[in-house]
Amino acid sequence: MTHIPVLLDSVLSVLNVKSGGWYIDGTFGGGGYTRAILQAADDTHVIAIDRDITAIQGGQALQKQYPDRLELHHTTFSRLDTLPKRAVDGVVLDIGVSSMQIDTPERGFSFQKDGPLDMRMGQSGLTAQDIVNTYPEKQLADIIFTYGEEKASRRIAHKIVQQRQTAPFTTTLQLANAIHAVMPHSNGIDSATRTFQALRIYVNDELNELRQALSAALHVLSVGGVLAVLSFHSLEDRIVKNFMKDLVGVKEHTNKYAASTTQNNSAWENLTPKAIQADDKQVRDNPRSRSAKLRAIRRIK
Ligand SMILES: C[S@@+](CC[C@H](N)C(=O)[O-])C[C@H]1O[C@@H](n2cnc3c(N)ncnc32)[C@H](O)[C@@H]1O
Repeated sequence: MTHIPVLLDSVLSVLNVKSGGWYIDGTFGGGGYTRAILQAADDTHVIAIDRDITAIQGGQALQKQYPDRLELHHTTFSRLDTLPKRAVDGVVLDIGVSSMQIDTPERGFSFQKDGPLDMRMGQSGLTAQDIVNTYPEKQLADIIFTYGEEKASRRIAHKIVQQRQTAPFTTTLQLANAIHAVMPHSNGIDSATRTFQALRIYVNDELNELRQALSAALHVLSVGGVLAVLSFHSLEDRIVKNFMKDLVGVKEHTNKYAASTTQNNSAWENLTPKAIQADDKQVRDNPRSRSAKLRAIRRIK
């Protein structure tokens, strides 16, 4: 149940990890990127974040190995600008769930193994169970459509509301089976995939977290610093792509560590005009890299 880091070499290459550099890993997970950054030179520093306490606990051994070079923070990456005491040379975000989260049925992310209908990465707030059992049909349909891009959202929401009148949903397989009853699988893809994605994004407020983290990163990057983001579905990638595109053309930017305001329309350079994706071998070695897209920008002024 370890997490194989996705596109690790490409991430290290765009970050251009350097001796003495400070980096923020906003999605510590199994610590794959953090470990690689710490190993890249004798004096790199990482400020690592995860909203999942089990990821932070899992990082304790690495922390002991690098007591003066690794900080572990149990918080959300939307708050990443509140942590460093100095400007940093890179921020990396590997959005989404880890293999440990997906493969642990008790976390409720999987529609293949039964578990409580939870889906919270941060173990606080509303669960997926609260939502499917209490939200009005229209709101459920909207969530499934917006965050799952599921065309059959109304049919699925109707089925959920009908079925919960008999007995509330408590497990992932109950929900998956209800979806299977109204929607056949297509192209070998489980018909519950999009609905589970939608609920997960909603439960964890993932898109707002991402938007806030992208803005927060701009406030902590030094000149030459790189923001690298890996996304795994089109909703996330669109946000990252548009954010970076708009920024490269932006006219004005303030850095809280800089004495003055930079007024230049080329303060940011796009390092990935075309997103970096896994090649066939990488996908064979690590199927979770199949949908990954890596985009990066560098502050040049
Ligand atoms: C795909 S995994 C990261 C894997 C990591 N790069 C590695 O190599 O092991 C994503 C991690 O980000 C965390 N995460 C997701 N959204 C977050 C957020 N808004 N704030 C903090 N952590 C978040 C998840 O809990 C999960 O552990």
